[in-house]
Amino acid sequence: MRAFESSTWPQRTRKSDLLVLSNVFTQPAIFWVSTVAWVAAAKYTTQDHRPLTTDILFPALRQVIKTHPSLCVALKNESSSKAAFTRLHTIDLSQIVEFRNSDSLQAAFEGQLTHGFDTEPDAPLWRIQVLADNTVILAIHHVIADGLSTIAFHGSLLRAVRNGSFCDTSSLVQIPDTIRMLPTVEAVTNVWPSIPTILDRIYREFAPQYLKSDRHAWSGKPVPRTGTLRTNVRLISFLPHDVAAFCSLCRTHRATLTSAFYVLTVAILSRMLAGDTRYKTISSAVAVSLRGVAGVSGDAICDFVSAHFAHPPVNPNFSWTTAARYARKLRKQKRDARQSIGLLRLLFRNYIPFMRGHLGRKRDSGFVLSNLGRFDAPMIEGTWNVVNTVFAQCDVIIGAAFKLNVVCDPGGTLNVALTWGDYGVETDFVESFISQFQDAFHDLLV
Ligand SMILES: *[C@@H]1O[C@H](CO)[C@@H](O)[C@H](O)[C@H]1NC(C)=O
Ligand SMILES: *[C@@H]1O[C@H](CO)[C@@H](O)[C@H](O)[C@H]1NC(C)=O
Ligand SMILES: *[C@@H]1O[C@H](CO)[C@@H](O)[C@H](O)[C@H]1NC(C)=O
Repeated sequence: MRAFESSTWPQRTRKSDLLVLSNVFTQPAIFWVSTVAWVAAAKYTTQDHRPLTTDILFPALRQVIKTHPSLCVALKNESSSKAAFTRLHTIDLSQIVEFRNSDSLQAAFEGQLTHGFDTEPDAPLWRIQVLADNTVILAIHHVIADGLSTIAFHGSLLRAVRNGSFCDTSSLVQIPDTIRMLPTVEAVTNVWPSIPTILDRIYREFAPQYLKSDRHAWSGKPVPRTGTLRTNVRLISFLPHDVAAFCSLCRTHRATLTSAFYVLTVAILSRMLAGDTRYKTISSAVAVSLRGVAGVSGDAICDFVSAHFAHPPVNPNFSWTTAARYARKLRKQKRDARQSIGLLRLLFRNYIPFMRGHLGRKRDSGFVLSNLGRFDAPMIEGTWNVVNTVFAQCDVIIGAAFKLNVVCDPGGTLNVALTWGDYGVETDFVESFISQFQDAFHDLLV
Protein backbone atom coordinates (compact mmCIF):
# COMPACT_ATOMS: atom_id res chain seq x y z
CA MET A 1 0.00 0.00 0.00
CA ARG A 2 1.26 3.44 -0.85
CA ALA A 3 0.89 6.53 1.27
CA PHE A 4 -0.42 9.62 -0.46
CA GLU A 5 0.69 13.18 -0.02
CA SER A 6 -0.54 16.30 -1.69
CA SER A 7 3.01 17.31 -2.62
CA THR A 8 3.16 14.55 -5.22
CA TRP A 9 0.32 15.74 -7.48
CA PRO A 10 1.26 15.60 -11.13
CA GLN A 11 0.68 18.57 -13.35
CA ARG A 12 -0.57 18.91 -16.86
CA THR A 13 1.20 17.12 -19.63
CA ARG A 14 3.15 19.27 -22.05
CA LYS A 15 4.53 18.59 -25.46
CA SER A 16 7.52 16.37 -25.62
CA ASP A 17 9.87 16.02 -28.58
CA LEU A 18 9.03 12.38 -28.73
CA LEU A 19 5.28 12.18 -28.66
CA VAL A 20 2.76 14.90 -28.15
CA LEU A 21 -0.10 14.20 -25.83
CA SER A 22 -2.01 16.18 -23.31
CA ASN A 23 -4.88 14.19 -22.00
CA VAL A 24 -3.41 13.83 -18.54
CA PHE A 25 -4.81 17.30 -18.22
CA THR A 26 -8.34 16.43 -19.25
CA GLN A 27 -8.92 13.83 -16.58
CA PRO A 28 -9.56 15.36 -13.20
CA ALA A 29 -9.79 11.96 -11.57
CA ILE A 30 -6.24 11.24 -12.49
CA PHE A 31 -4.66 13.35 -9.85
CA TRP A 32 -3.43 10.64 -7.61
CA VAL A 33 -0.06 9.65 -8.81
CA SER A 34 0.11 6.28 -10.52
CA THR A 35 -3.12 5.16 -9.01
CA VAL A 36 -5.88 5.74 -11.46
CA ALA A 37 -6.31 2.46 -13.17
CA TRP A 38 -8.81 0.06 -14.66
CA VAL A 39 -8.80 -3.67 -14.42
CA ALA A 40 -10.76 -5.79 -16.87
CA ALA A 41 -11.01 -9.55 -16.90
CA ALA A 42 -12.16 -11.93 -19.60
CA LYS A 43 -11.97 -15.70 -19.50
CA TYR A 44 -10.63 -17.27 -22.70
CA THR A 45 -12.01 -20.71 -23.42
CA THR A 46 -11.90 -23.45 -26.04
CA GLN A 47 -14.03 -26.58 -26.27
CA ASP A 48 -10.99 -28.78 -25.53
CA HIS A 49 -10.01 -26.62 -22.50
CA ARG A 50 -6.66 -25.51 -23.90
CA PRO A 51 -4.57 -23.56 -21.39
CA LEU A 52 -3.54 -20.06 -22.41
CA THR A 53 0.23 -20.51 -22.47
CA THR A 54 2.89 -17.97 -23.47
CA ASP A 55 3.10 -19.74 -26.87
CA ILE A 56 -0.42 -18.53 -27.58
CA LEU A 57 -0.53 -15.36 -25.54
CA PHE A 58 2.77 -13.69 -26.53
CA PRO A 59 2.24 -13.76 -30.32
CA ALA A 60 -1.34 -12.56 -29.78
CA LEU A 61 -0.23 -9.70 -27.53
CA ARG A 62 2.39 -8.79 -30.14
CA GLN A 63 -0.45 -8.23 -32.65
CA VAL A 64 -2.54 -6.29 -30.10
CA ILE A 65 0.39 -3.98 -29.27
CA LYS A 66 0.93 -3.16 -32.93
CA THR A 67 -2.71 -2.18 -33.33
CA HIS A 68 -2.82 0.21 -30.35
CA PRO A 69 -0.24 3.01 -30.06
CA SER A 70 -1.39 3.83 -26.51
CA LEU A 71 0.05 0.50 -25.41
CA CYS A 72 3.49 1.55 -26.68
CA VAL A 73 4.16 4.58 -24.48
CA ALA A 74 5.62 5.36 -21.07
CA LEU A 75 4.74 8.37 -18.94
CA LYS A 76 7.72 10.54 -18.04
CA ASN A 77 8.12 13.17 -15.35
CA GLU A 78 4.64 12.39 -14.14
CA SER A 79 4.76 14.73 -11.15
CA SER A 80 6.24 17.69 -12.96
CA SER A 81 4.89 20.32 -15.33
CA LYS A 82 6.95 18.59 -18.04
CA ALA A 83 5.00 15.34 -17.88
CA ALA A 84 4.96 13.65 -21.28
CA PHE A 85 4.35 10.40 -23.07
CA THR A 86 7.43 8.87 -24.61
CA ARG A 87 7.58 6.09 -27.15
CA LEU A 88 8.92 2.78 -25.93
CA HIS A 89 11.40 1.11 -28.26
CA THR A 90 10.65 -2.38 -27.06
CA ILE A 91 8.23 -4.10 -24.71
CA ASP A 92 9.40 -7.21 -22.90
CA LEU A 93 6.24 -9.25 -22.38
CA SER A 94 7.91 -11.41 -19.76
CA GLN A 95 8.07 -8.27 -17.58
CA ILE A 96 4.39 -7.39 -17.84
CA VAL A 97 2.66 -10.76 -18.11
CA GLU A 98 2.32 -12.75 -14.92
CA PHE A 99 0.78 -16.22 -14.49
CA ARG A 100 -0.84 -17.03 -11.16
CA ASN A 101 -1.94 -20.27 -9.60
CA SER A 102 -4.97 -18.76 -7.95
CA ASP A 103 -8.30 -18.13 -9.64
CA SER A 104 -9.80 -15.65 -7.19
CA LEU A 105 -10.86 -12.72 -9.33
CA GLN A 106 -11.74 -10.48 -6.40
CA ALA A 107 -8.31 -10.94 -4.79
CA ALA A 108 -6.57 -10.38 -8.13
CA PHE A 109 -8.59 -7.20 -8.79
CA GLU A 110 -7.86 -5.83 -5.31
CA GLY A 111 -4.16 -6.60 -5.73
CA GLN A 112 -3.92 -4.96 -9.14
CA LEU A 113 -5.92 -1.85 -8.21
CA THR A 114 -3.99 -1.31 -4.98
CA HIS A 115 -0.66 -1.87 -6.69
CA GLY A 116 -1.12 1.02 -9.15
CA PHE A 117 1.57 1.95 -11.66
CA ASP A 118 5.15 2.93 -11.13
CA THR A 119 5.69 5.25 -14.06
CA GLU A 120 9.33 6.11 -13.51
CA PRO A 121 11.04 3.26 -15.37
CA ASP A 122 10.62 2.83 -19.12
CA ALA A 123 7.60 0.64 -18.64
CA PRO A 124 4.30 0.41 -20.49
CA LEU A 125 1.19 1.79 -18.76
CA TRP A 126 -0.51 -1.61 -18.72
CA ARG A 127 0.14 -5.17 -17.60
CA ILE A 128 -1.47 -8.60 -17.71
CA GLN A 129 -2.20 -11.24 -15.13
CA VAL A 130 -3.38 -14.71 -16.17
CA LEU A 131 -5.26 -16.74 -13.56
CA ALA A 132 -5.28 -20.53 -13.35
CA ASP A 133 -8.69 -20.72 -15.07
CA ASN A 134 -7.53 -18.83 -18.24
CA THR A 135 -8.90 -15.50 -17.04
CA VAL A 136 -6.82 -12.70 -18.51
CA ILE A 137 -6.79 -9.53 -16.41
CA LEU A 138 -5.71 -6.29 -18.01
CA ALA A 139 -4.60 -3.52 -15.65
CA ILE A 140 -4.27 -0.22 -17.48
CA HIS A 141 -3.58 3.39 -16.48
CA HIS A 142 -6.47 5.84 -16.94
CA VAL A 143 -4.12 8.28 -18.64
CA ILE A 144 -4.19 6.15 -21.82
CA ALA A 145 -7.54 4.41 -21.51
CA ASP A 146 -11.19 4.88 -20.60
CA GLY A 147 -13.46 2.02 -19.51
CA LEU A 148 -14.49 1.16 -23.08
CA SER A 149 -10.81 0.75 -23.97
CA THR A 150 -10.68 -2.33 -21.77
CA ILE A 151 -13.32 -3.97 -23.97
CA ALA A 152 -11.42 -2.80 -27.05
CA PHE A 153 -8.32 -4.51 -25.65
CA HIS A 154 -10.02 -7.84 -25.03
CA GLY A 155 -11.76 -7.61 -28.42
CA SER A 156 -8.35 -7.21 -30.05
CA LEU A 157 -6.81 -10.00 -28.01
CA LEU A 158 -9.66 -12.34 -28.87
CA ARG A 159 -9.26 -11.60 -32.60
CA ALA A 160 -5.52 -12.22 -32.27
CA VAL A 161 -5.79 -15.59 -30.48
CA ARG A 162 -8.44 -16.65 -33.01
CA ASN A 163 -6.16 -15.55 -35.84
CA GLY A 164 -3.60 -17.95 -34.40
CA SER A 165 -0.49 -17.15 -36.44
CA PHE A 166 1.82 -18.18 -33.63
CA CYS A 167 5.22 -18.06 -35.25
CA ASP A 168 7.12 -15.54 -33.12
CA THR A 169 6.73 -16.65 -29.51
CA SER A 170 9.60 -14.60 -28.08
CA SER A 171 8.77 -12.11 -25.35
CA LEU A 172 10.46 -9.08 -26.91
CA VAL A 173 8.26 -6.82 -29.05
CA GLN A 174 9.88 -4.10 -31.20
CA ILE A 175 7.80 -0.91 -31.41
CA PRO A 176 7.74 0.67 -34.87
CA ASP A 177 8.92 4.29 -34.74
CA THR A 178 5.98 5.35 -36.88
CA ILE A 179 3.33 4.97 -34.17
CA ARG A 180 1.16 8.01 -33.47
CA MET A 181 -1.33 8.38 -30.65
CA LEU A 182 -4.89 9.53 -31.29
CA PRO A 183 -5.47 13.25 -30.83
CA THR A 184 -6.79 14.24 -27.42
CA VAL A 185 -10.46 14.76 -26.73
CA GLU A 186 -10.16 18.55 -26.61
CA ALA A 187 -8.44 18.49 -30.00
CA VAL A 188 -11.24 16.69 -31.81
CA THR A 189 -14.38 18.07 -30.23
CA ASN A 190 -15.50 21.31 -28.69
CA VAL A 191 -15.24 20.98 -24.93
CA TRP A 192 -15.95 24.62 -24.12
CA PRO A 193 -18.66 25.01 -21.49
CA SER A 194 -21.73 27.20 -21.83
CA ILE A 195 -22.09 30.34 -19.69
CA PRO A 196 -24.75 28.79 -17.37
CA THR A 197 -22.49 25.78 -16.80
CA ILE A 198 -19.60 28.06 -15.93
CA LEU A 199 -21.66 30.19 -13.55
CA ASP A 200 -23.12 27.13 -11.89
CA ARG A 201 -19.68 25.66 -11.36
CA ILE A 202 -18.18 28.91 -10.01
CA TYR A 203 -21.09 29.15 -7.63
CA ARG A 204 -20.71 25.59 -6.44
CA GLU A 205 -17.01 26.04 -5.93
CA PHE A 206 -16.95 29.36 -4.17
CA ALA A 207 -20.33 29.87 -2.50
CA PRO A 208 -20.37 29.37 1.27
CA GLN A 209 -21.45 25.88 2.34
CA TYR A 210 -24.87 26.99 3.66
CA LEU A 211 -25.87 28.32 0.23
CA LYS A 212 -24.66 25.39 -1.86
CA SER A 213 -27.13 23.13 -3.61
CA ASP A 214 -25.24 20.08 -2.43
CA ARG A 215 -25.20 20.95 1.26
CA HIS A 216 -28.01 18.49 1.94
CA ALA A 217 -26.53 15.84 -0.36
CA TRP A 218 -25.26 12.49 0.84
CA SER A 219 -21.81 11.84 -0.58
CA GLY A 220 -20.29 9.39 1.89
CA LYS A 221 -17.71 10.53 4.40
CA PRO A 222 -15.50 13.58 3.79
CA VAL A 223 -12.26 13.28 1.84
CA PRO A 224 -9.44 12.53 4.33
CA ARG A 225 -6.42 14.81 4.65
CA THR A 226 -3.93 11.98 4.65
CA GLY A 227 -3.96 8.19 4.53
CA THR A 228 -3.21 5.20 2.35
CA LEU A 229 -4.66 4.08 -0.94
CA ARG A 230 -6.42 0.77 -1.18
CA THR A 231 -9.29 -0.42 -3.35
CA ASN A 232 -11.83 -2.93 -2.04
CA VAL A 233 -13.77 -5.00 -4.55
CA ARG A 234 -16.98 -7.06 -4.46
CA LEU A 235 -18.25 -8.88 -7.53
CA ILE A 236 -21.87 -9.73 -8.23
CA SER A 237 -23.58 -11.04 -11.33
CA PHE A 238 -27.03 -11.35 -12.81
CA LEU A 239 -28.01 -14.35 -14.93
CA PRO A 240 -28.63 -13.95 -18.69
CA HIS A 241 -32.30 -14.90 -18.38
CA ASP A 242 -32.91 -12.20 -15.70
CA VAL A 243 -30.83 -9.63 -17.57
CA ALA A 244 -32.82 -10.18 -20.76
CA ALA A 245 -36.08 -9.78 -18.81
CA PHE A 246 -34.79 -6.62 -17.11
CA CYS A 247 -33.64 -5.06 -20.41
CA SER A 248 -37.00 -5.83 -21.95
CA LEU A 249 -38.72 -4.05 -19.00
CA CYS A 250 -36.39 -1.09 -19.58
CA ARG A 251 -37.39 -0.91 -23.24
CA THR A 252 -41.10 -1.11 -22.39
CA HIS A 253 -40.70 1.86 -20.05
CA ARG A 254 -38.40 3.82 -22.39
CA ALA A 255 -35.59 3.56 -19.86
CA THR A 256 -32.11 2.09 -20.29
CA LEU A 257 -30.22 -0.35 -18.12
CA THR A 258 -27.96 2.52 -17.04
CA SER A 259 -30.85 4.82 -16.12
CA ALA A 260 -32.73 2.03 -14.32
CA PHE A 261 -29.62 1.00 -12.33
CA TYR A 262 -29.09 4.66 -11.48
CA VAL A 263 -32.61 5.15 -10.11
CA LEU A 264 -32.39 1.80 -8.31
CA THR A 265 -29.12 2.86 -6.67
CA VAL A 266 -30.66 6.15 -5.52
CA ALA A 267 -33.66 4.24 -4.12
CA ILE A 268 -31.51 1.76 -2.17
CA LEU A 269 -29.28 4.51 -0.78
CA SER A 270 -32.41 6.46 0.23
CA ARG A 271 -33.68 3.41 2.13
CA MET A 272 -30.29 3.04 3.82
CA LEU A 273 -30.31 6.71 4.83
CA ALA A 274 -33.93 6.65 5.99
CA GLY A 275 -34.43 8.64 9.16
CA ASP A 276 -31.27 10.69 8.69
CA THR A 277 -32.78 14.15 8.22
CA ARG A 278 -29.44 15.68 7.18
CA TYR A 279 -29.85 14.33 3.66
CA LYS A 280 -32.32 15.52 1.01
CA THR A 281 -30.40 14.52 -2.12
CA ILE A 282 -27.74 12.05 -3.23
CA SER A 283 -24.66 13.27 -4.98
CA SER A 284 -24.06 11.09 -8.02
CA ALA A 285 -22.18 10.74 -11.27
CA VAL A 286 -22.64 8.61 -14.37
CA ALA A 287 -19.78 8.03 -16.82
CA VAL A 288 -20.57 9.35 -20.31
CA SER A 289 -18.51 8.29 -23.29
CA LEU A 290 -17.49 11.08 -25.67
CA ARG A 291 -16.49 8.66 -28.44
CA GLY A 292 -19.74 9.36 -30.33
CA VAL A 293 -19.34 13.15 -30.52
CA ALA A 294 -15.61 12.80 -31.12
CA GLY A 295 -16.09 10.28 -33.92
CA VAL A 296 -13.77 7.74 -32.30
CA SER A 297 -14.52 4.06 -32.79
CA GLY A 298 -15.24 1.67 -29.94
CA ASP A 299 -12.19 -0.36 -31.01
CA ALA A 300 -9.65 2.31 -30.03
CA ILE A 301 -7.67 2.40 -26.78
CA CYS A 302 -7.92 6.06 -25.75
CA ASP A 303 -9.30 8.27 -23.01
CA PHE A 304 -12.54 9.83 -24.24
CA VAL A 305 -14.84 9.93 -21.25
CA SER A 306 -16.56 12.48 -19.08
CA ALA A 307 -19.37 12.26 -16.54
CA HIS A 308 -22.80 13.63 -15.78
CA PHE A 309 -23.14 14.91 -12.21
CA ALA A 310 -26.54 15.22 -10.53
CA HIS A 311 -28.24 15.50 -7.14
CA PRO A 312 -31.40 13.39 -7.35
CA PRO A 313 -33.76 13.77 -4.36
CA VAL A 314 -33.76 11.11 -1.66
CA ASN A 315 -36.60 8.74 -2.62
CA PRO A 316 -36.92 5.14 -1.45
CA ASN A 317 -39.36 4.28 -4.27
CA PHE A 318 -38.10 3.04 -7.61
CA SER A 319 -40.03 4.60 -10.49
CA TRP A 320 -39.89 3.74 -14.20
CA THR A 321 -41.04 7.28 -15.02
CA THR A 322 -37.96 8.65 -13.27
CA ALA A 323 -35.79 6.07 -15.05
CA ALA A 324 -37.22 7.11 -18.44
CA ARG A 325 -36.64 10.80 -17.67
CA TYR A 326 -33.08 10.10 -16.63
CA ALA A 327 -32.45 8.08 -19.82
CA ARG A 328 -33.46 11.16 -21.86
CA LYS A 329 -31.13 13.33 -19.81
CA LEU A 330 -28.21 10.94 -20.35
CA ARG A 331 -28.77 10.92 -24.11
CA LYS A 332 -28.40 14.70 -24.09
CA GLN A 333 -25.24 14.35 -21.99
CA LYS A 334 -23.48 12.56 -24.84
CA ARG A 335 -22.84 16.11 -26.08
CA ASP A 336 -23.12 18.20 -22.92
CA ALA A 337 -20.76 16.19 -20.73
CA ARG A 338 -17.86 17.60 -22.75
CA GLN A 339 -18.26 20.76 -20.74
CA SER A 340 -16.89 19.18 -17.56
CA ILE A 341 -13.59 18.79 -19.38
CA GLY A 342 -13.63 22.35 -20.74
CA LEU A 343 -14.39 23.73 -17.30
CA LEU A 344 -11.18 22.36 -15.96
CA ARG A 345 -9.22 24.11 -18.63
CA LEU A 346 -11.09 27.37 -18.23
CA LEU A 347 -11.40 27.75 -14.50
CA PHE A 348 -8.68 25.69 -13.01
CA ARG A 349 -5.66 26.14 -15.18
CA ASN A 350 -3.80 25.96 -11.94
CA TYR A 351 -5.72 22.93 -10.87
CA ILE A 352 -3.22 21.19 -8.64
CA PRO A 353 -4.21 23.56 -5.79
CA PHE A 354 -7.83 23.15 -6.88
CA MET A 355 -7.63 19.37 -6.51
CA ARG A 356 -5.59 19.60 -3.34
CA GLY A 357 -8.26 21.94 -1.95
CA HIS A 358 -10.64 18.95 -1.83
CA LEU A 359 -8.61 17.28 0.91
CA GLY A 360 -10.47 17.34 4.21
CA ARG A 361 -13.65 18.64 2.54
CA LYS A 362 -17.06 17.25 1.74
CA ARG A 363 -16.83 14.63 -1.00
CA ASP A 364 -18.19 15.60 -4.43
CA SER A 365 -19.93 12.31 -5.26
CA GLY A 366 -21.53 9.54 -3.26
CA PHE A 367 -21.45 7.05 -6.12
CA VAL A 368 -20.43 6.83 -9.74
CA LEU A 369 -22.00 4.41 -12.19
CA SER A 370 -20.12 3.24 -15.30
CA ASN A 371 -21.85 0.90 -17.71
CA LEU A 372 -19.77 -0.38 -20.62
CA GLY A 373 -22.75 -2.12 -22.20
CA ARG A 374 -22.32 -5.50 -23.83
CA PHE A 375 -19.04 -7.06 -24.87
CA ASP A 376 -20.15 -8.04 -28.33
CA ALA A 377 -18.12 -11.09 -29.35
CA PRO A 378 -20.41 -13.79 -30.75
CA MET A 379 -19.44 -17.36 -29.83
CA ILE A 380 -17.72 -19.24 -32.67
CA GLU A 381 -17.41 -23.00 -32.47
CA GLY A 382 -14.00 -24.65 -32.73
CA THR A 383 -11.97 -21.62 -31.70
CA TRP A 384 -11.33 -19.32 -28.74
CA ASN A 385 -14.25 -17.57 -27.08
CA VAL A 386 -14.55 -15.09 -24.25
CA VAL A 387 -16.84 -15.42 -21.24
CA ASN A 388 -17.21 -13.73 -17.89
CA THR A 389 -16.02 -10.20 -18.64
CA VAL A 390 -15.73 -8.03 -15.52
CA PHE A 391 -14.25 -4.58 -15.12
CA ALA A 392 -13.52 -2.26 -12.21
CA GLN A 393 -11.78 0.97 -11.40
CA CYS A 394 -9.59 1.91 -8.50
CA ASP A 395 -10.49 4.23 -5.69
CA VAL A 396 -9.35 7.83 -5.97
CA ILE A 397 -9.03 9.70 -2.71
CA ILE A 398 -11.15 12.67 -3.79
CA GLY A 399 -13.44 10.51 -5.94
CA ALA A 400 -16.87 9.03 -5.31
CA ALA A 401 -17.42 7.10 -2.06
CA PHE A 402 -18.14 3.96 -4.06
CA LYS A 403 -18.34 2.91 -7.69
CA LEU A 404 -20.55 0.54 -9.63
CA ASN A 405 -18.84 -0.87 -12.72
CA VAL A 406 -21.20 -2.73 -15.03
CA VAL A 407 -20.52 -4.83 -18.11
CA CYS A 408 -22.50 -7.54 -19.89
CA ASP A 409 -20.48 -10.52 -21.14
CA PRO A 410 -20.92 -12.14 -24.59
CA GLY A 411 -23.11 -14.85 -23.01
CA GLY A 412 -25.52 -12.26 -21.56
CA THR A 413 -24.42 -12.42 -17.90
CA LEU A 414 -24.28 -8.97 -16.34
CA ASN A 415 -21.30 -8.50 -14.06
CA VAL A 416 -21.14 -5.67 -11.55
CA ALA A 417 -17.97 -4.85 -9.64
CA LEU A 418 -18.35 -2.53 -6.66
CA THR A 419 -15.19 -0.70 -5.65
CA TRP A 420 -14.51 1.60 -2.73
CA GLY A 421 -11.59 2.93 -0.74
CA ASP A 422 -11.06 2.97 3.00
CA TYR A 423 -12.54 6.43 3.62
CA GLY A 424 -15.79 7.07 1.76
CA VAL A 425 -17.98 4.23 3.06
CA GLU A 426 -17.60 1.21 5.36
CA THR A 427 -17.49 -2.36 4.07
CA ASP A 428 -20.74 -3.15 5.97
CA PHE A 429 -22.44 -0.33 4.12
CA VAL A 430 -21.42 -1.69 0.71
CA GLU A 431 -22.41 -5.24 1.64
CA SER A 432 -25.81 -4.12 2.82
CA PHE A 433 -26.22 -2.06 -0.37
CA ILE A 434 -25.36 -5.09 -2.52
CA SER A 435 -27.88 -7.40 -0.88
CA GLN A 436 -30.67 -4.79 -1.09
CA PHE A 437 -29.78 -3.98 -4.70
CA GLN A 438 -29.96 -7.65 -5.72
CA ASP A 439 -33.33 -8.06 -3.96
CA ALA A 440 -34.75 -4.90 -5.55
CA PHE A 441 -33.55 -6.01 -9.01
CA HIS A 442 -35.33 -9.33 -8.67
CA ASP A 443 -38.46 -7.68 -7.22
CA LEU A 444 -38.78 -5.61 -10.39
CA LEU A 445 -38.82 -8.79 -12.48
CA VAL A 446 -41.88 -10.34 -10.82
C1 LIG B 1 12.06 14.94 -17.61
O1 LIG B 1 12.65 15.90 -16.75
C2 LIG B 1 14.05 15.97 -16.88
C3 LIG B 1 14.60 16.92 -15.81
O2 LIG B 1 13.78 18.04 -15.69
C4 LIG B 1 14.43 16.43 -18.30
O3 LIG B 1 15.81 16.48 -18.47
C5 LIG B 1 13.81 15.44 -19.29
O4 LIG B 1 14.04 15.90 -20.62
C6 LIG B 1 12.33 15.26 -19.07
N1 LIG B 1 11.83 14.19 -19.94
C7 LIG B 1 10.89 14.40 -20.86
C8 LIG B 1 10.55 13.20 -21.68
O5 LIG B 1 10.35 15.46 -21.05
C1 LIG C 1 -3.50 -12.25 -38.36
O1 LIG C 1 -2.16 -12.69 -38.52
C2 LIG C 1 -1.48 -12.12 -39.64
C3 LIG C 1 -0.11 -12.77 -39.75
O2 LIG C 1 0.66 -12.59 -38.61
C4 LIG C 1 -1.39 -10.62 -39.45
O3 LIG C 1 -0.76 -10.02 -40.55
C5 LIG C 1 -2.81 -10.04 -39.29
O4 LIG C 1 -2.74 -8.67 -39.04
C6 LIG C 1 -3.53 -10.75 -38.18
N1 LIG C 1 -4.92 -10.28 -38.08
C7 LIG C 1 -5.47 -9.83 -36.94
C8 LIG C 1 -6.90 -9.46 -37.03
O5 LIG C 1 -4.86 -9.74 -35.89
C1 LIG D 1 -42.99 6.21 -1.66
O1 LIG D 1 -44.11 5.36 -1.69
C2 LIG D 1 -44.91 5.41 -0.52
C3 LIG D 1 -45.99 4.34 -0.60
O2 LIG D 1 -46.64 4.37 -1.87
C4 LIG D 1 -45.50 6.82 -0.38
O3 LIG D 1 -46.29 6.91 0.79
C5 LIG D 1 -44.35 7.83 -0.31
O4 LIG D 1 -44.85 9.14 -0.28
C6 LIG D 1 -43.39 7.68 -1.51
N1 LIG D 1 -42.24 8.52 -1.29
C7 LIG D 1 -41.82 9.43 -2.17
C8 LIG D 1 -40.66 10.26 -1.77
O5 LIG D 1 -42.32 9.56 -3.26
